[in-house]
Amino acid sequence: MTFNLDSYRDLPAAQQPEWPDPGELAQAVAALKVEPPLVFAGEADVLRERLADAAQGRAFVLQGGDCAEIFAEVTPDRIRSQLRTILQMAVILTYGASLPVVKMGRIAGQYAKPRSASTETRGAQTLPAYRGDAVNAFGFTPKDRRPDPWRMVRAYHRSSSTLNLVRAFTTGGFADLRFVADWNRGFMANPAFARYEEIAGEVDRAISFMEACGVDFDALKTVELFACHEALLLDYERALTRIDSRTETPYDCSAHFVWVGERTRDIGGAHVDLLSKVRNPIGVKIGPTAQPEDVVRLADRLDPDGIPGRLTLITRLGADRVRTLLPPLIEAVQAAGRTPVWVCDPMHGNTITTGAYKTRHFDVIMNEVRAFFEVHREHGSVPGGLHVELTGDDVTEVLGGSQTIHEATLARRYATLVDPRLNHQQSLEMAFQVAEMIRDGSTAAPVKQP
Ligand code: PEP
Ligand code: CO
Repeated sequence: MTFNLDSYRDLPAAQQPEWPDPGELAQAVAALKVEPPLVFAGEADVLRERLADAAQGRAFVLQGGDCAEIFAEVTPDRIRSQLRTILQMAVILTYGASLPVVKMGRIAGQYAKPRSASTETRGAQTLPAYRGDAVNAFGFTPKDRRPDPWRMVRAYHRSSSTLNLVRAFTTGGFADLRFVADWNRGFMANPAFARYEEIAGEVDRAISFMEACGVDFDALKTVELFACHEALLLDYERALTRIDSRTETPYDCSAHFVWVGERTRDIGGAHVDLLSKVRNPIGVKIGPTAQPEDVVRLADRLDPDGIPGRLTLITRLGADRVRTLLPPLIEAVQAAGRTPVWVCDPMHGNTITTGAYKTRHFDVIMNEVRAFFEVHREHGSVPGGLHVELTGDDVTEVLGGSQTIHEATLARRYATLVDPRLNHQQSLEMAFQVAEMIRDGSTAAPVKQP
């Protein structure tokens, strides 16, 4: 069989770096092509089955991690705290939803970023924009900003060592449910989070109950955590696309799940074409300009056979627009007879700038989540999951939360090079609030937008 995996090369490709030297690019791509795959196709198939459950309301999806991973930050401590945050959120959500939570990290490959402008000017100097560590460096010098294709090879190796540690943590005992419960107890020790006491107590008692019943904790010592990232750099994704020897079909073996971003989802563009050819479960970001017919056309193009779990629609509409924009999208998808996984990204439609900082407000983020749940419920559609930018670290990038971060405190530990992330505590607060929304089947009144 032939798959014509290179047809994307004839199509318009948005958001690609201008690699200065074609010979250098060819060498780097050749080096990537002979590297082993980062994931096994069979794992991507398992994820697709899990997502098929989420589409039907039998599981809930949690995708979380940095906006952009950074080479210098691939440290055991950071990977551990990132993973810990995702696992803590997952336990809270599992309890709230009484459903398995499908866990995906924006990890081991989230190294390339779309940018609103391809250059950046400071004073008299104009240089290429920073496009993520897989392309260039953040420093504002011509040397740093020069797109260097060997960085894609470095991104591969960083991803490989990250995944290695993630696999060790998730199967080697670190993820034991009882440890996760202990971490949550540590969080609850802080009086700022007293409002979550009731649900935290319930989670705790549920775990003690299982323990008392002699539940096989060996089975709860390992968890499944899948890797995902935006499939932005076509050279990288193509080089890691391999024909699976079992099924003789192509998989993008750079991650279990990849998505097309809001800025590259052109139906006639290269990204949609390449991802239409691979068998992984895939996602598409859907922003406020997407028309219902665009979404249906994307679904037809990316999932012509309607394979359960194949397609995830990640809406990022903005808290004040969800109630207007989401209903026609859901109605069109329903009318087309499709059941994708619907996931809410409450981050990217709610970015604001205050002073020198790009930020988001916690309450506004939660308002988008709340509206997402309500609109899906009103339509008999399944709110299938959450997609968030978070870090396990104690950063001050997103405003609000119970340990209130104000505009004046943003500067304290503002560490992101790209988008603002929920910190460890804000992430857990989100999980508690969403658990309440799911458990009560009600979403209460939205918080007044600040
Ligand atoms: C992102 O997820 O970091 C991102 C760039 O999102 P979007 O494509 O939705 O803008
Ligand atoms: Co982002």
